[in-house]
Amino acid sequence: MPARPLHTLTVQPPSHAYPIFIGQNLLDSAHELLKPHLSKKAAVITNETVAPLYLEKFQTALDQAGIPHFSIVLPDGEEYKNWQTLNLIFDSLMQNRAERKTTLIALGGGVIGDMVGFAAATYQRGTPFIQVPTTLLSQVDSSVGGKTAINHPLGKNMIGAFYQPQAVLADLTVLQTLPARELSAGMAEVVKYGALGDAAFFAWLEQNMTGLMAQQPEKLAQAVYHCCKMKADIVSQDETEQGIRAWLNLGHTFGHAIEAEMGYGNWLHGEAVAAGTVLAARLSEQFGKTTAADTQRIAALLQAARLPAAPPQFTFEKWLEHMSHDKKVESSVMRFIGLNRIGEANITEITDPEILRRTLQPYLP
Ligand code: NAD
Ligand code: GLY
Repeated sequence: MPARPLHTLTVQPPSHAYPIFIGQNLLDSAHELLKPHLSKKAAVITNETVAPLYLEKFQTALDQAGIPHFSIVLPDGEEYKNWQTLNLIFDSLMQNRAERKTTLIALGGGVIGDMVGFAAATYQRGTPFIQVPTTLLSQVDSSVGGKTAINHPLGKNMIGAFYQPQAVLADLTVLQTLPARELSAGMAEVVKYGALGDAAFFAWLEQNMTGLMAQQPEKLAQAVYHCCKMKADIVSQDETEQGIRAWLNLGHTFGHAIEAEMGYGNWLHGEAVAAGTVLAARLSEQFGKTTAADTQRIAALLQAARLPAAPPQFTFEKWLEHMSHDKKVESSVMRFIGLNRIGEANITEITDPEILRRTLQPYLP
């Protein structure tokens, strides 16, 4: 009996609407769920960690759907989210005579999803693609909304495009093979949603973090659904980040600086976002918006998810250098996502770097 999604959501940005399927054992039903969203040929793109776990299952689904396909297996790691790896995708697409209507399928975490999405946005000026996210982070965040990118050595996700998938299939069962550190990293983005836009969800997370970290199926399904719903609503309103979508970058300006300074892959994206979210709360304290008690609540919830609540030490000059490359910088003014309170974000413009120095002071060498 094929598994049915527990939840189906629709993302409705101006470019095109598409479904998110969320549930247990959905890889077993991938042929039925995805067939209406596939073209006549497919390329499954994954990495050397995910391939031995799930590639064969996905290939079987495509066989069952009667779709001819080939696969591309890339090296695993944030440090490979670059031009060289992107070119490996293009080489293989060319060698296998992929056409403009070949559907690219991203089977993996956010690194694979972001890179395959960018390959799809640019190969022959645009081929369709489908997201099959296999990490918590990619199921709650990166697979939805069409942000695609690779890193530049001087800045994270600097080269990319907004390009929406045809469908997202989030099989919660695959999270069982996820290393504990990666589960925690995904939980940083889950906490982010509560902090930026839903105080009741934040409180629910405080009550349920132990069950979530133990991967209790109903709790996990509820959290993934809630985050996808929030993201679908935001992206449907603001596909290309002209306004409210920027809130989803809570913790990311500080976080990207940590990732760049420590070397991509050394601090996981979610770990850097966790420390960055605490810093964003500290920054909001400087503006009298939030209190030290709010910051402490956020730090405690992140720590319950076994995440760092403080950044590594490096100089203020390094912080400024990394953060000056942020995509939210406009006319040289740095823009941060701050908090009015837990459950409501804002966009904070910083013209006086001293405010940042005070925010970071306890962590400067
Ligand atoms: P990742 O893709 O590196 O995956 C983490 C690790 O888990 C990898 O080693 C991967 O091979 C492995 N893995 C994946 N699925 C597995 C499974 N089911 N079982 C066992 N191992 C598995 O990291 P991530 O946290 O998924 O994604 C981080 C990336 O996402 C960053 O590059 C970040 O910039 C990006 N991101 C993008 C958006 C967006 O909106 N596009 C949002 C948030 C993050
Ligand atoms: N992860 C931020 C966004 O999708 O906008």
